[in-house]
Amino acid sequence: MRASEIRDLIRVKPVELDATRRRLSACHDIADLSNWGRRLIPRPVFDYVDGGADEELSLRANVAAFRRYQFQPRALVNVSEPDASAAFLGSVAPLPLALAPTGYTRMMHPAGEIAAARAAGRRGLPYTLSTMATTTIEDVAGAAGGTDLWFQLYLLRDAGLNKELVDRAAAAKYRVLVVTVDCFVTGHRTRDRRNGLVIPPALTLSTLASIAGKPSYWIRMLGSPAIDFANFAGHDAVTIEGTGALFNPAITWDDIEELRSRWPGRLVIKGPLGPEDALQAVSVGADGVQLSNHGGRQLDRTVPPVEEIAAVREAVGPDVSVLVDSGVRHGSDIAVALALGADACAIGRAYLYGLMAGGQAGVDKALDILAGQFRRTMQLLGVRSVAELRSTGSSLVVRR
Ligand SMILES: Cc1cc2nc3c(=O)[nH]c(=O)nc-3n(C[C@H](O)[C@H](O)[C@H](O)COP(=O)(O)O)c2cc1C
Repeated sequence: MRASEIRDLIRVKPVELDATRRRLSACHDIADLSNWGRRLIPRPVFDYVDGGADEELSLRANVAAFRRYQFQPRALVNVSEPDASAAFLGSVAPLPLALAPTGYTRMMHPAGEIAAARAAGRRGLPYTLSTMATTTIEDVAGAAGGTDLWFQLYLLRDAGLNKELVDRAAAAKYRVLVVTVDCFVTGHRTRDRRNGLVIPPALTLSTLASIAGKPSYWIRMLGSPAIDFANFAGHDAVTIEGTGALFNPAITWDDIEELRSRWPGRLVIKGPLGPEDALQAVSVGADGVQLSNHGGRQLDRTVPPVEEIAAVREAVGPDVSVLVDSGVRHGSDIAVALALGADACAIGRAYLYGLMAGGQAGVDKALDILAGQFRRTMQLLGVRSVAELRSTGSSLVVRR
């Protein structure tokens, strides 16, 4: 065989010169993005995202719980045009998915909240901005105005500040207020304590050691504006433990009722873990609940939220939006949640791994991965629409 004949048989892939694009094109699932995050980001910061509370039993159980469900697909259904669009909280999204609120997002990458909000908007998905965000309510709205923006509120000790945050979110046209009810004291994040994590990341002796290993992270960080609690400026740098002093352990359902009358948009309570609290949320005027154990970052040994979907749906009926988060790492997890009766899932770590692996392009990649996986799962299950997945779900999913 002559050399020219061999050349015709071999196709040389063009070399991607951009390192981020090259890296992301080699990521095929959320675990790949997480692995890159681990390699590129200093350990205390990666651990802040990746870790959970206490013994991390809930962190692991959340992921394992989704995987205990197995599919019993239907064959030979025409699935050439699956429709993954889903209605929840009075709006239709092309995918039953929202981005959950995450604090200190600029610590993972300077593009931070704006990158995540823009990536969500690009796919028509809602983005939830955290109270503990490192970009202001107004700046995110200005930079990602086309995105369906939700604002997450922690009820802080300072009642005036709570009101101010809610009014600012309303003025900036955030559509949904998400009130988190599982974080009135901070969970014991063991890895953060061991790592002595300080926000913003400080150049201590131990972090100096990580500079050599992760230069690109530090170059990016040192060249971008200082990280702070953007929505209540002037606060000093605090340890993760220190943030606990901001939260109010005395809040009750009465406080939510008061908020309801102040907030003009839809209201979601994030953190119920069973029918009783879901019903309580509805009784104080919530339009939806987000079943969550905070991704296993608060009370360890909680029931995995996915296990509570069916009971909550039965309790609240068909008209209340039921979202679920904690443990979603694959598009098929979303299919499981919907088959059990949820309207949509929310993700935290899945998009943060993308952010750490490649800024906004990394979040885009995470969303593309989940969207592709969900669509393929629908097709292989033999369902043509999200409505069909929800109505026939119980016959498609078996718990082992
Ligand atoms: C790094 C990080 C920061 C978070 N910060 C907040 C927050 O500020 N407010 C909040 O309500 N939930 C927060 N959460 C919880 C998420 O909103 C969500 O409930 C959780 O990440 C879902 O689990 P998953 O990471 O397995 O998807 C945070 C989660 C992570 C991973």
